[in-house]
Amino acid sequence: MSKANDQYAGWQVYKRLLGYLKSAWWAFLIAIVGNLTYALASAAMAPAMEFVVEAIENPSAENRLFVPMLIIVVFTVRGVGSFFSTYFMAFVARAIIHRMRTELFSQIIRLPCSFFDANSTGHLVSKITYNVAQVTGAATNAITVILREGFTVMGLLGFMLYSNWRLTLVFLIVGPIIGVLVSVITKSFRKVSSNIQTSMGEVTHVASESFNGYRVMRTFGGESHEETRFSDASEHNISQTLKLSFIQAISTPVIQVLISVSIAVLVWLALSPQVLQNMTSGEFIAFITAATTCAKPVRQLTEVNAVIQRGIAASQDVFSQIDHEVEADEGTVETDRCKGDLRINHLSFAYSGSDKKVLEDINLHIPAGKTVALVGRSGSGKSTLASLIPRFYDYDSGSITLDDIPLKDLKLASLREQISLVTQQVTLFNDSVANNIAYGTLKGAPLEDIEKAAEAAHAVEFIKDLDKGYETKLGDNGVNLSGGQRQRLAIARALLKDAPILILDEATSALDTHSERHIQAALENVMKDRTTLVIAHRLSTIENADLIVVMEQGRIVETGTHDELLSKQGAYAALHQLQFSENEA
Ligand SMILES: Nc1ncnc2c1ncn2[C@@H]1O[C@H](COP(=O)(O)OP(=O)(O)O)[C@@H](O)[C@H]1O
Ligand SMILES: [Mg+2]
Repeated sequence: MSKANDQYAGWQVYKRLLGYLKSAWWAFLIAIVGNLTYALASAAMAPAMEFVVEAIENPSAENRLFVPMLIIVVFTVRGVGSFFSTYFMAFVARAIIHRMRTELFSQIIRLPCSFFDANSTGHLVSKITYNVAQVTGAATNAITVILREGFTVMGLLGFMLYSNWRLTLVFLIVGPIIGVLVSVITKSFRKVSSNIQTSMGEVTHVASESFNGYRVMRTFGGESHEETRFSDASEHNISQTLKLSFIQAISTPVIQVLISVSIAVLVWLALSPQVLQNMTSGEFIAFITAATTCAKPVRQLTEVNAVIQRGIAASQDVFSQIDHEVEADEGTVETDRCKGDLRINHLSFAYSGSDKKVLEDINLHIPAGKTVALVGRSGSGKSTLASLIPRFYDYDSGSITLDDIPLKDLKLASLREQISLVTQQVTLFNDSVANNIAYGTLKGAPLEDIEKAAEAAHAVEFIKDLDKGYETKLGDNGVNLSGGQRQRLAIARALLKDAPILILDEATSALDTHSERHIQAALENVMKDRTTLVIAHRLSTIENADLIVVMEQGRIVETGTHDELLSKQGAYAALHQLQFSENEA
């Protein structure tokens, strides 16, 4: 999280944060003017005291009118300043939150797959919600306090110096002591704040995991386990938050006491006859007013530190996330519609962070328009191989070419445009059936095309039974559909895309044998004129493939057509035998 390197050092981060002000600079300017006005009016209250005291000592008709007017004017000016500073700072804050949040989101959705494998969604969501809000605190509330109270203190000090510099110096001696204290407190604030963020992420993480997996939790009686896990995460979060509150709570009174001591010394000195001789009582009261008035802004300036440190810790996290490298997209070649000739040469692959080769020396040619089936036991690397074609992961050794162009030379968007993918895990969005089929670049496809795709995927039969047909809203991730129905929508989506390459990774595994056979017929229709890589759970569904490839532990152990492989009496025949006897049983 909080890295010690220069890029994320406090001041660097703050500077970068201020860069976000650009779009709302005018609001920021108004807020600054508001703060200045507020500060001047606040500081003016001390000299105003002088008039009040003098007016009391020399009552006159003129003073009787002037002094009350003065009070109203000072407070009105301060109120106006306060309004402009508060409202326009809030405006600036919203602008920053919005920009940072959307930037973070756009960045996260473009990160490589390996990033999502390694990070929980809970933590990512918490970054977008909690951390960004913390950042804004630093950027705006802190600036408000610094400007407003900082100017007030400067105004008051200016007045004090002007009115009696010797006394002012005494008052200032206590300043450095406060300064040292503040810097000690600063360090602990930042550390604790960073811990709070991590623990907040943990809270969201545990919660979202339990909510998503509530069925598993119920059937396996995981409630109490999840409760403990959540309670631990929450307790950790609370203890960190309390630590911060403790530091915050103790720092304020300590600093206040220090200020009161300095004021006491001041009064003691001021009351000495030599000093008093040179001052009118009005001046004296004005001076003490200024000195005591300093306490509140100084206290606020020290408190703002917690907000700043929290903001900086959050910014460090947000910025290091924003700086996280997105998917490499160095290719330059764009193709409109490829023929679909896929060639895999000496391909080896290991997931990042692991030495274990998941794929080893894979050589495979899938001619345009042909269907190749991958079979093999679970864990043999079939899905991994399929996921390398849309370049979800980058491989180091070997190559994959599409129409003789290395995949890495193609623009990612252009490459992915050529591919329709259906996997076992179907993702549906909280939107209408039609919009779920016509998703992404397919958005706005004519309804008749959507209907045609749904028909081919045998989805029409259940869509027409939904209350509003194609306009029916699916819940979160299509919860109100069965696994088979969800999969049929995913197939319809892939069919609508009409891409030259089709990848089916156990796409029909959630279907019952009857529906599978149905869809199989439809799929075979679409496979005809496109390059298809099909990973099948049930071998019966791929018997007609042009080539069947058997994988074992990341290697290709056998290739051939169904009949060839059966007569070979090798790995495929064994798998086949196994499923056949299972079906008999
Ligand atoms: N995202 C991942 N990160 C690290 N290892 C993975 C990942 N996905 C799969 N693996 C590993 O790669 C191997 C092959 O998995 P996979 O390609 O999913 O096999 P199959 O699809 O044939 O069942 C397995 O040993 C699995 O543990
Ligand atoms: Mg798989």
